Amino acid sequence: MNLIFLGPPGAGKGTQAKMVTGRYGIPQISTGDILRQALKDKTPMGVKAKEFMDAGKLVPDDVVIGIINDRLREGDCKAGFILDGFPRTVAQAEALSGLLGKMGRQIDAVIDLAVEERFLVERLTGRRTCKNCGMGYHITFSPASKTGVCDKCGGELFQRDDDNEATVIKRFKVYKEQSELLGAHYSAGGRYRKIDGAAPMEQVFKRIVEIIDA
Ligand code: AP5
Ligand code: ZN
Repeated sequence: MNLIFLGPPGAGKGTQAKMVTGRYGIPQISTGDILRQALKDKTPMGVKAKEFMDAGKLVPDDVVIGIINDRLREGDCKAGFILDGFPRTVAQAEALSGLLGKMGRQIDAVIDLAVEERFLVERLTGRRTCKNCGMGYHITFSPASKTGVCDKCGGELFQRDDDNEATVIKRFKVYKEQSELLGAHYSAGGRYRKIDGAAPMEQVFKRIVEIIDA
């Protein structure tokens, strides 16, 4: 099962991708996570990407297309994958389709999580993530049992640099200008499903499972 998750920043792409990985065992491929890891490792790509990420802008297409090209060829993607945060532009979508064509593969479902802007600032400014295992939390909607500590591994929770209100508003603007139209791009293909991402997490997941198992 090869999946794409679309949706604005904070729509729940990462949260749902982790749940799908837990149930179906296919890897979550988040270009945002890969870029943040590159920055942590202080690679030139990571350092350069930080400028764009901190400004709420998209990292250049060639950089993220290169990341996906390498990642999709890794062994764990053989049984399927979830693309979380890629593609974000039509050029990225076209590059992906070329790449998959060469590999003799195709996308089985494009799931677009629709959430209105008014919910996103609260979701993102309240997000916390485990430094150690990457588990996601929200201070109100899915709090850790002990503030600042991961339930799963005891790791320390942190807040992303781009999850402040000003940058979230910029990220949403960039989404509206450059990424929202991917819905129209994919809806022509018959594998596109738009679902309500504002519902509680478990309900959103149930809908995704229905789509995958259909
Ligand atoms: P990226 O890391 O991809 O960020 P994003 O798209 O802005 O998405 P988020 O990770 O912020 O949100 P999400 O939808 O995963 O939400 P989550 O599940 O965590 O990208 C960051 C930056 O990297 C970009 O700005 C860009 O610079 C660069 N980049 C990455 N990919 C790129 C590309 N392809 N091209 C160019 N540049 C790229 O949920 C958010 C919070 O809400 C959590 O706290 C969660 O607990 C909570 N929550 C989730 N679901 C629910 C629910 N149903 N109800 C209540 N709360 C919920
Ligand atoms: Zn953890």
